[in-house]
Amino acid sequence: MIHNLKINSEEEYYSTYKRSIENPELFWDEIAENFLWQKKWTKTLEWDFTIPKVKWFIGGKLNITENCLDRYLNSQGDKTAIIWEPNNPNEFSKHITYKELHKLVCRFANVLKNNNIKKRDRVCIYMPMIPELAIAMLACARIGAIHSIVFAGFSSKAIANRINDSSCKMLITTNEMYRGTKTIPLKEICDEALKDCPSIEKVIVFKRTNAITIMDQNRDVFWHKEIEKVNDINTAEIMDAEDELFILYTSGSTGKPKGMVHTTGGYMVGITYTFLNVFQVLQDDIYWCTADIGWITGHSYIIYGPLCAGATTVMFEGVPSYPDYGRFWQIVEKHKITHFYTAPTAIRTLEKQSLSFIETHDISSLKVLGSVGEPINEEAWQWYHNNIGKGNIPIVDTWWQTETGAIMISSLAGITKEKPTYTTLPMPGVQPVLMNDEGNVIEEKNAEGRLAIKFPWPSMARTIWGNHIRYKEVYFSTFNNKYFTGDGALRDENEYYRITGRVDDIVIVSGHNLGTAPIENAVNEHPKVVESAIVGFPHEIKGNALYGFVILYQSEDASSELKVEINKVISTDIGPIAKLDKIQFVEGLPKTRSGKIMRRILRKIACNEISNLGDISTLLNPEVIEAIKENSL
Ligand code: WTA
Repeated sequence: MIHNLKINSEEEYYSTYKRSIENPELFWDEIAENFLWQKKWTKTLEWDFTIPKVKWFIGGKLNITENCLDRYLNSQGDKTAIIWEPNNPNEFSKHITYKELHKLVCRFANVLKNNNIKKRDRVCIYMPMIPELAIAMLACARIGAIHSIVFAGFSSKAIANRINDSSCKMLITTNEMYRGTKTIPLKEICDEALKDCPSIEKVIVFKRTNAITIMDQNRDVFWHKEIEKVNDINTAEIMDAEDELFILYTSGSTGKPKGMVHTTGGYMVGITYTFLNVFQVLQDDIYWCTADIGWITGHSYIIYGPLCAGATTVMFEGVPSYPDYGRFWQIVEKHKITHFYTAPTAIRTLEKQSLSFIETHDISSLKVLGSVGEPINEEAWQWYHNNIGKGNIPIVDTWWQTETGAIMISSLAGITKEKPTYTTLPMPGVQPVLMNDEGNVIEEKNAEGRLAIKFPWPSMARTIWGNHIRYKEVYFSTFNNKYFTGDGALRDENEYYRITGRVDDIVIVSGHNLGTAPIENAVNEHPKVVESAIVGFPHEIKGNALYGFVILYQSEDASSELKVEINKVISTDIGPIAKLDKIQFVEGLPKTRSGKIMRRILRKIACNEISNLGDISTLLNPEVIEAIKENSL
């Protein structure tokens, strides 16, 4: 493992932070020296947020998989790299060593080459949480192809949109996937998507189940047959530090999803440094992040971060409720997990279950707990701390984003102090600022405002695939010369940060970012719907849920069946995660004189804060509000 990058005391955190701000280039230079480079960079940083342009480790050459795998072959080749735990607890788990993973990745890299995939080609991966997903992504990185992983809960249309946006040449999937008691036909979902994807030339299908799979003879090949055609010797493609490593789509507050582009060198340095420091993982520890690799948390903190650091990382195929709500704790006991990193929505779900699900398992191997994806409320924090941490192990509450690539604000486990509901302190090299409504930096310590970052960090996304203008508009146009996060935050007298939630039209449901605009577009496609507006409202388990206000052509069509149909449209267009919890049929929506829906008012109604709706003087049609209020759900 990499050992020498760790901060060991609170004092050292403060001195390191100070150093990282005084001379960021020198600071990151020293960190980057700890990796395997084929050629050293000539310049550490070039940046200009007004263009925006950010480049790190310019001229540096490397391959991230040499850092994840090759560099460990001699020193710890027999150490377990990945522990895989299947959906069904009666199926065998797998332990894959660094040496074995290296071979598997090299072999599959040769399969990709054999199927005409070249450097910079885009490869879409739509797979469940099985080792082949990790192998496929690392094999892409090995040959310099750009992977675009689509979470295996998205619909055919959502896959097609993402494939077309970045013209992927290949799709890698499985015939079926397991999820709790269900079997889901992934290949069929892909076949539907591929009716509209002219750029796809090949589909590689891994057989996860024994079901018969319909194959297109001109397009589809089986994983197990392809790997027989190649050997496992592969020389890694030499990549420029600024060459793209992957695209990962995240919701936008308007229009189609944004393909965030992450590059090779800076991303590697940023995620590995934060992984080591936030979690303080040691050589024999077993680290488990429960996220799906389809999200950024899985990219950075299941695969790339832990492997670059030389740790043992766990991949779990199933769900927390199968075969019962004790599954997470059974896995902790079985694999002697030391580090457990999950999302508040999972914590709140488990909090509702009987404590006997925990008590029947020995979870005393746990040393560090983590939380990510949305603000963790006090009650969930206390439950996690007392029942899983037994009152005496650290919880790191890590704030970051798909766009930031790596953790930005968090305590360091057992090193810096924690404060429930606060994500606390910025990572070395990260320079957060709070902005007021006038767009100025708030200098006072004790304050609330919109969160921005005023200096580049190595793992930041460099652009939106094919749309640099949108990248500039979304992130660099709200505040002069700063990256805007879209989040609001509080800062206390110790300069600890607390994230209060999104301040734009993105709602975080069960830890998943959902832009309301694309869901509205889906709802509006229903032939009986004129128009709709969707907002978030607080939900006990999911954190937030979605509330839709829908205008129909004919009000007599309003029915509970129509609500089901509307949710079906959303499932088909985006995926079941974007379904509406509440649907209210309305006669009109509050609009400004320029025709914009005033979501601020609808948000208050959805949250049942109807006594003070704020200023409605700019509304074109204030009369609709009374009826909406009266019939609110
Ligand atoms: C929210 C997930 C509070 C935030 C890594 C951010 C959080 C969005 C936290 C990014 C946290 C993430 N406390 N809020 N610890 N972590 N968020 O892109 O609103 O899926 O902007 O990345 O999640 O979500 P994304």
